[in-house]
Amino acid sequence: MKHVLGIVVVIVVLGATSGAASAQSAVERGQQVFTAQKCTVCHSVAGQGNKKGLLDGVGAKLSADEIRQWIVNAPEMAAKVKAERKPAMKPYAALPKDNLDALVAYLLSLKK
Ligand code: HEC
Repeated sequence: MKHVLGIVVVIVVLGATSGAASAQSAVERGQQVFTAQKCTVCHSVAGQGNKKGLLDGVGAKLSADEIRQWIVNAPEMAAKVKAERKPAMKPYAALPKDNLDALVAYLLSLKK
């Protein structure tokens, strides 16, 4: 019985640390998704990409929900804020949830 408890404790501790590690690397994964999805065709971060769509500081300007809405439902958000830059952003509705979460974490980390 003691052994079983010991194993449970180890699993819980390992689970907690890997959880913290994945929260940290979500930002890095999000950065990779950002590049892989070619967001830089229309946006730039830290001088990399299209300077007409600066996203530096977007994490201080928008909430996580707003950033998520932009990614999955860009046309609606564009209508809401009357964004007129062309070409307009398309919705990335088919992005796997993991990638979407990482992308939101990454953009939210851009506080300037
Ligand atoms: C075809 C061009 C295009 C692509 C590709 C694109 N966007 Fe956009 N995005 C826009 C436009 C246009 C706006 C409206 C605001 C503006 O004029 O910059 C916008 C707005 C945003 C905003 C809100 C910015 C703000 O300051 O309020 C976020 C966040 C965003 N995009 C994220 C992304 C992400 C993440 C990707 C890649 C998955 C992406 N965009 C790909 C054109 C694009």
